[in-house]
Amino acid sequence: MEFSYVNPTHIHFGQGKIASVSSAIPSTSKVLVIYGGGSIKKNGVYQQVQDALANHTWLEFSGVEANPTMETLDKAVAIAKTEEIDYILAVGGGSVIDGAKYVAAAACYDGAGWDILLGKHTVTEAIAIGAVLTLPATGSESNAASVITRAETQDKLPFFSPAVQPKFAVLDADAMKTLPERQLINGLVDAWVHICEQYLTMPTGAMVQDGYAEALLKNLLVLAEQYDQRETLNWRENLMWTANQALNGLIGTGVPQDWATHMIGHELTALYGVDHARSLAIVQPSLLRNQLVVKKAKLEQLGSNVFALPASDDLAERTIAAIEAFYHGLNVATQLTEHGEDKAAAIDKIIGQLTAHNMVKLGENQAITLTQSREILELAVK
Ligand code: NZQ
Ligand code: ZN
Repeated sequence: MEFSYVNPTHIHFGQGKIASVSSAIPSTSKVLVIYGGGSIKKNGVYQQVQDALANHTWLEFSGVEANPTMETLDKAVAIAKTEEIDYILAVGGGSVIDGAKYVAAAACYDGAGWDILLGKHTVTEAIAIGAVLTLPATGSESNAASVITRAETQDKLPFFSPAVQPKFAVLDADAMKTLPERQLINGLVDAWVHICEQYLTMPTGAMVQDGYAEALLKNLLVLAEQYDQRETLNWRENLMWTANQALNGLIGTGVPQDWATHMIGHELTALYGVDHARSLAIVQPSLLRNQLVVKKAKLEQLGSNVFALPASDDLAERTIAAIEAFYHGLNVATQLTEHGEDKAAAIDKIIGQLTAHNMVKLGENQAITLTQSREILELAVK
């Protein structure tokens, strides 16, 4: 274990905390409020943001789509540049917050914003960002990651920079009241896989990271079991905080990380429009089966500490089955059916995109080459 760790995002958690935006953003700032398709106008969040910004100068940019595209976001970049915006407030889920990160970085760069995703421009400077979270899932509200799609070429790529990590995030679970069930379930699944990506690798004896990851996974199991209580503040707040903690950097600090499920899943979203979380549920069980030998010890640890499965020779396999049952219990599919063509052609297409994106050595050991990805897809594509 060797690391430098800080999570600089100031979290304002609880009912009514959207009001804290007012003092969290310097009153001299010129603010661009970025949001999505308008859900924030149906749950009172927009009104609360408006009230909080009563003494600020601000503009707004709406229409950031799920799986935010460069094509849409570049319009906001132009506004940020011409209006000399110096604070961005993202109000929404992971897509809006990721989109705001792209805008914040691209507005401080003279070249094409997509250079950031290609690694041609390293982001060291960005407009300051604050976030009001309306959908707990990605952890984007307090991390340095962003995933952007180029619609024209169906590329969905991530970038990372401490410069785009939000300065503050408001987590008021009342904002979740209007969430469709599909998105609530996506949140449970995405958070689950985020923890797995940082935990299901190899044993390192990191007791803090392992123990906290297991506690968070158990929370998600309980929240799924208590799904009928999803209208209660307690249920919502626990999901909101668990999903945040799942990807705020802590459990992944100083330990190996995987992320292969995410990189393959991103291709399914870009090609077939599968929701992000659902792409993960499709890829992960097949990937775990493919990587069973190298992941055996951690799968067994998960099976015993999280699912309370008894020891046996096939514990790792039973743990994968338990993960799959967790998804099925939420009515989330674990095979791709949306490909709309024959299976072989779909797999070739996905492999083609992985190749184009240089996703050719994935996982904690960089052992998931295109050969393994093809085997995984053989299992995962129906
Ligand atoms: O656009 P609006 O009207 O806001 O509607 C959204 C959208 O249609 C709706 N929604 C959000 N909050 C709502 C609500 N509807 C009613 N009531 C509310 N309170 O939900 C829909 C989906 O929103 P989206 O932001 O796309 O969902 P999510 O938070 O799951 O974000 C997914 C995106 O995050 C990326 C994914 O790749 C995907 O693009 N990720 C970002 C990560 C990060 N930055 O660390 C990590 C993740 O692994 C993930 O890759
Ligand atoms: Zn995710």
